[in-house]
Amino acid sequence: MRLKDKVAVITGAANGLGLEAAITFVREGAKVALVDYDTTGQERAKELQEQGADVEFFQADVANRESVDHMVIGVVKRFEKIDILINNAGITRDGMLTKLSQEDFQMVIDVNLTGVFNCTQAVVQHMIAGGKGKIVNTSSVSGVYGNVGQTNYAATKAAVVGMTKTWAKELGRKGINVNAVAPGFIETSMITSVPDKVIAELKQLIPLQRLGKPSDIANAYLYLASDESDYVNGTTLHVDGGIMM
Ligand code: CAA
Repeated sequence: MRLKDKVAVITGAANGLGLEAAITFVREGAKVALVDYDTTGQERAKELQEQGADVEFFQADVANRESVDHMVIGVVKRFEKIDILINNAGITRDGMLTKLSQEDFQMVIDVNLTGVFNCTQAVVQHMIAGGKGKIVNTSSVSGVYGNVGQTNYAATKAAVVGMTKTWAKELGRKGINVNAVAPGFIETSMITSVPDKVIAELKQLIPLQRLGKPSDIANAYLYLASDESDYVNGTTLHVDGGIMM
């Protein structure tokens, strides 16, 4: 029960890493707002409720500030406070620089970068009011080291590291810890578009010789959301099997 009675907002919680985080947080005693643009999150929330979890689904487009503000008002009305924000929502629109469309570039910036800004700015006032909070952003191995075909995605994930450090400096005095997790290549739907040839090459580069599991990332989120990480601030935790060091 490492998150007993904490209220967590997890974006991108309809599937993949966000859903795994929601399940993990519930197991550790948290009340969870599952936030996603994808309304199938409603079904996932219902399944968790049927198992006795105190969770609620909120449909929101993180790229749209009005939608985010509306979501945060709904979460506070339902759970009365917000202790934890996991900025997990993210998309890819991969393409070589020479072929990447302006539209695909902008869409990834809107969701992965502006979305993190929107959610954090909307939530943080509630954490400041409570005098404590945990914000966990999701970077990526691509943002830290670059990745062929990911100009847009890598740009946003590098920017997330910069925002994490800035917010760690601004919000530390308010009792709020801000950290990031940088996942490597994890077994979710996000890698289904990656050619088999590329996956095979990647596995050879990973010292642990396997892709990550969603639980590998959910456990990192859990640590950074729990009291165990109270003196950790402004760091980026690499959970990538050691692919880059
Ligand atoms: N390293 C080195 N070279 C690579 C490469 C890589 N990772 N990926 C592709 N290339 C090379 C190809 O071998 C090819 O070389 P030749 O021209 O000599 O044949 C050239 O680049 C062009 O590749 P494609 O033929 O695949 O070009 P395309 O336009 O059809 O597709 C692409 C380009 C969409 C980027 C495709 O290669 C691709 O999907 N690559 C994988 C991108 C990737 O790794 N995405 C990560 C998704 S998971 C994620 O994002 C989560 C996270 O946080 C990490």
